[in-house]
Amino acid sequence: MKIEMKNRSFLKLLDFSRQEINYFLTLSEELKKAKKQNKEMKRLKGKNIALIFEKTSTRTRCAFEVAAYDQGANVTYIAPSSSQMSKKESLKDTARVLGRLYDAIEYRGFEQKKIEILAKYAKVPVFNGLTNEFHPTQALADFLTISEHSDKPINKVKLAYIGDAANNVANSLLICSAKLGANFVAIAPKELQPDKPLVKEAQKIASETGANIAVTDNIPDGLKNADFVYTDIWVSMGEPENIWEKRIKLLKDYQVNSINLKLAGNPNVKFMHCLPAYHNRQTEIGEKIYQKFGQKFGMDGIEVTEEVFESEASIVFDQAENRLHTIKAVMNAILR
Ligand code: CP
Ligand code: NVA
Repeated sequence: MKIEMKNRSFLKLLDFSRQEINYFLTLSEELKKAKKQNKEMKRLKGKNIALIFEKTSTRTRCAFEVAAYDQGANVTYIAPSSSQMSKKESLKDTARVLGRLYDAIEYRGFEQKKIEILAKYAKVPVFNGLTNEFHPTQALADFLTISEHSDKPINKVKLAYIGDAANNVANSLLICSAKLGANFVAIAPKELQPDKPLVKEAQKIASETGANIAVTDNIPDGLKNADFVYTDIWVSMGEPENIWEKRIKLLKDYQVNSINLKLAGNPNVKFMHCLPAYHNRQTEIGEKIYQKFGQKFGMDGIEVTEEVFESEASIVFDQAENRLHTIKAVMNAILR
């Protein structure tokens, strides 16, 4: 089957077929290999890409910039609150202006519906660099990393996501697992499980791809036989700071620590995190949370302990590197 993705926007993985997602992953592997062997070809020469960040970023911004430079493209970074967007100019007008100047736009922001508006009016491809609902380039990097760390075919791999399973990263992993035919379980208290309609949609896709999609609040059941245990921050960007206490109360048993990791019963289990992670007190927020709540709950790291984060099982920096190769693949498949 011919894969043709030219000029499509990359807003969420639900918009792409299993074959198309696999194509992104294969292209990522090829581009990664070419870069390592110093054989990369600059296939995006002369392309101009706008990078809009309404929320802060390290990995996503740097991956988009380096991917563009590696491929000979140019970028303009538009920092949170450094443009007229939203304050003096509507999203619809901004989209029409940028669409006249750029070949593509990356957008990190709040509601998914905003990126849909941007794509509709810009009339050039728009790449989702994270919204409240989805983080699709992250899921691609994660599945590339999973394939590099597993000898099993994807339909035999079990990915267990534990923690705030209602957030953007969990949603994208849920959909990516369903599309690719993997076994995915979201382990979270009822209040922080993925939205039911999204789970239903994932299960419908799973019935066609052979994936297994489950949601549970039972930690031992969920973690049993996991090959990969994944967590993310408990309060995402854009959520109010005052929900930290509530989240810690809800999620403290769902921390990835050596006791929980052992519940997988798998000596080769790997730990994953999209990063940034609160795994010790070496960040301003990590220290603040520790001072405010951690002492009360007996926590040092928050969603993951320092011990697990720094262990042999941790593959978090492979994930971070793979952001570059997968974002480059998305740009290439769509802009070349
Ligand atoms: N994982 C991720 O998206 O990281 P940044 O927020 O640093 O871009
Ligand atoms: N769920 C996190 C992911 C950060 C990459 C957030 O949205 O803040």
